Amino acid sequence: MEVVIVPSADEAGRVVADIVAGALATGARTLGLATGSSPVGAYRELARRHREEGLSFAGIRAFLLDEYVGLAASHPQSYARVIRADFVDHVDLASDDVHGPDGATDDVLEKARRYDAHLRAAGPLDVQILGTGANGHLGFNEPGSSLASRTRVKTLTQQTRRDNARFFPEGEQVPQHVITQGLGTILEARHLVLVATGRTKAAAVAAAVEGPVSAFCPASVLQLHPHATVVVDELAARRL
Ligand code: GLP
Repeated sequence: MEVVIVPSADEAGRVVADIVAGALATGARTLGLATGSSPVGAYRELARRHREEGLSFAGIRAFLLDEYVGLAASHPQSYARVIRADFVDHVDLASDDVHGPDGATDDVLEKARRYDAHLRAAGPLDVQILGTGANGHLGFNEPGSSLASRTRVKTLTQQTRRDNARFFPEGEQVPQHVITQGLGTILEARHLVLVATGRTKAAAVAAAVEGPVSAFCPASVLQLHPHATVVVDELAARRL
């Protein structure tokens, strides 16, 4: 595992953008996209390079990590919408080429299985961008998730629902269930790139990078991957 420590969150975004741009330049055709605040700096930098330097995503297929159950794709906090607002709408990635689990229907168990099959057929993804929760969750694989798990429906912990409440309008509940790529699914990508910034991530980063590989810290599965890069700012690195 390669750990890159940089002075600031902005610099972390640039490092992740460099990795993605480098992969595209050497033939990458598939990208795994994470939502949440962690990768936003990288998305902003990639959009800038698209605008100012002609970096192109034409023909690239992108796959989301996870999705809330019970939110219509048009809901502002559905990850299908969030990734458009944070990234897709600012580059030349065709929206038909952006895929994610469908959490809006009744048959979410079947939809999760189908998304896993879709990923298997399209994969392995060339680069998978990842963030992590303060509790070490990856995608929405909360502590206790099987290290070999596949895409499935999961229940969020209270902590994650509290953490994500900031994205929802006051009075609106964060959904209790999600569809998430499993840890085994995530491990199939060719290159895993985890970005974490800020002091609230320091304990999770230390457990992921230096702790035992354990379901108690889902992000520690990166230690099992032959090509994993962890990009952290100094605040998130302070317990390493
Ligand atoms: C969210 C997402 C994860 C994300 C993590 C961290 O709930 N499901 O994919 O990496 O939690 O979020 P943030 O980057 O906003 O801290």
